[in-house]
Amino acid sequence: METRTRILSGIQPTGSPHLGNYFGAIKQHIELQKEGDCFYFIADYHALTTIKDGDALRQNTYEVAATYLAFGLDPATTTFFRQSDVPEVTELTWILSTVAGMGLLERAHSYKDKLAKKLSPMVGLFLYPILMASDILIYKSNLVPVGQDQIQHVEITRDIAGYFNNTFGETFPLPDYRMGVAPKVPGIDGAKMSKSYDNTIELSLAGKALRKKIMSIVTDSKTVEEPKSPDNCTVFILYSLMSTEAEKLALAERYQAGGMGYGDAKTLLLEKIEDKFADFRMRYAKIMADPEYVEESLRMGAMKARSLAAQTLTEVRSAVGFRA
Ligand code: ADP
Ligand code: TRP
Repeated sequence: METRTRILSGIQPTGSPHLGNYFGAIKQHIELQKEGDCFYFIADYHALTTIKDGDALRQNTYEVAATYLAFGLDPATTTFFRQSDVPEVTELTWILSTVAGMGLLERAHSYKDKLAKKLSPMVGLFLYPILMASDILIYKSNLVPVGQDQIQHVEITRDIAGYFNNTFGETFPLPDYRMGVAPKVPGIDGAKMSKSYDNTIELSLAGKALRKKIMSIVTDSKTVEEPKSPDNCTVFILYSLMSTEAEKLALAERYQAGGMGYGDAKTLLLEKIEDKFADFRMRYAKIMADPEYVEESLRMGAMKARSLAAQTLTEVRSAVGFRA
């Protein structure tokens, strides 16, 4: 029997999905449904490291699920679930923590960033990469499609899988990562777009609220007459993600010629986003109004995911010496 590549990725329900999530991750997740056996989940255990409000967590989870379904995730063929519906993953996290070196985790960017900001990190934040390794390994995943910020976590996963295999015998395949068309989409302030930096353009925004966001994108202070450089301009970078080669060239020429203000470029970007995501927004609104469909999709996925996770865990328990 031919074995299909197992593709797995997760997204945290820490806020409404944004353009960075779409071009960095969701777009390729949807496309990859044609290429392999896909497992996509909502990482609510991970989100607990930042969200301490149950209602907000539930609402965000629902929005992320509706977003994937509206973009065309097919719950009949893709295993789509909530991370916390598979508690087996936390048992594997513990077991993996006994073969993962402190040094490996101390080098993790997400942890180092919090330390640099002088925040006092919780133990859960330190363990975050092991939980992620457990997510990936419990389904014996081969490929993990993510944005650039998650690559180090996949590398840590490979290290942990290697230690486990060396210690207890060959159990886990070593996963590879794959980046999408735009591994690091900038936010309205020019830094990486992220729910934690309050600089996002949410996919569900339209009309006035979207206009307000787009108009607040930070640019340099060149006058209308002055020639401008498209290369480092957030407006241009975002526009390029959604336009044809010819449209991109035409806008780059207007930047370089001078005589065009950033307001005009922002209006072009606004029209692009309205147009590109119009169908999505309609489907999203419909799905948001149908909680049963969302719930049923996640329930179906959880059953499939859980049975596979339980199989791996039985193998792992036996390998380490527990009563299998
Ligand atoms: P956020 O940083 O907004 O909390 P997540 O951590 O939930 O987003 O990321 C979900 C997926 O989206 C991951 O694969 C991540 O790499 C990708 N991603 C997030 N922000 C961006 C961005 N600005 N550009 C490209 N990919 C991104
Ligand atoms: N840490 C990822 C993020 O913030 C989410 C995630 C959790 C994930 N487990 C995963 C991504 C497993 C890929 C594979 O984006």
